[in-house]
Amino acid sequence: MTEENLSHQRVGDHIQLKPGLNGLLEIHLKYGQASLTLSQQGAQITSYKPDGHSELLWLSRTADFLPGKAIRGGIPLCWPWFGQHLDDSDQPQHGYARTSDFDLFASQADDQSTRVVLRLNCPNPKWQESVNGLRMEFEVRLSKHLWMEVRTINLSDKDIKVGAALHTYFQVANASGVQIPEIKGLDYKDKTRGFATFNQSEHLTVESETDRVYLNPPKVVSLVDPGQQQTLEIQTWGNTDLVVWNPWKDNACKMADFDDEGYTSMICIEPANALDNQVRLAPGEQHCLGKIIRLCS
Ligand code: BG6
Repeated sequence: MTEENLSHQRVGDHIQLKPGLNGLLEIHLKYGQASLTLSQQGAQITSYKPDGHSELLWLSRTADFLPGKAIRGGIPLCWPWFGQHLDDSDQPQHGYARTSDFDLFASQADDQSTRVVLRLNCPNPKWQESVNGLRMEFEVRLSKHLWMEVRTINLSDKDIKVGAALHTYFQVANASGVQIPEIKGLDYKDKTRGFATFNQSEHLTVESETDRVYLNPPKVVSLVDPGQQQTLEIQTWGNTDLVVWNPWKDNACKMADFDDEGYTSMICIEPANALDNQVRLAPGEQHCLGKIIRLCS
């Protein structure tokens, strides 16, 4: 579907704009009984309930909904870099998209899906230099599953490097009980050990702080949650890495917007172009980073 076809439509109650906390606008999507909420700030998905199912995403009970502050939970968009800026430690962790406003550029609802496209609005002047020449938009399609894609296009006349992540916080019954079978055998860089490289020779069990960048992951991984008798299939594209993060108790307690016990019921699984695996975009080139979340059982 082209951008022109995706022009705004009055689509009954499938897409609604509602005022949220502290002046942050929320966009609510429905497809059948499936529902999704996005914050206009950061184009951040904060809730996703498939048809007939409870919430799949984790949101901290103490999350702040404040202009200019990242919301702790849901799916923050890390862009145009993941983690610390490679050259300038004064730049914000995970880039500035998650704290910037987005415009609702297009919306449509039909039998296939309910969808919106949001475009990153002109960010804070202090980030102008890094955003110059880049256009970033985020499309979400809600149907029997959840489809999303970050698109970055280089409109400048020089090469630009871009990093990104779909920093997805999943709600689980018990973080220590979940499995991601497909990451067994992958190499990973471990942030808790100075980013040294290791091999995931056994199944990962989350029993302490876990902060790993898995390299060259398969395009489909699953999140098996025996506590909820639930399996999610996560299909990704455009990513070189898959980040798995749980801060565990001590780090969670240090973050005011991370409720103290929340670490027991969440895990982040993040398709990413992380660290120095940034994508170099030639003039006119586009990069798409996307994923589909499917509830299998
Ligand atoms: C993860 C990183 O993606 O995000 C972690 O791997 C980081 O190192 C975490 O701590 C949360 O980041 P932030 O900036 O939202 O607190």
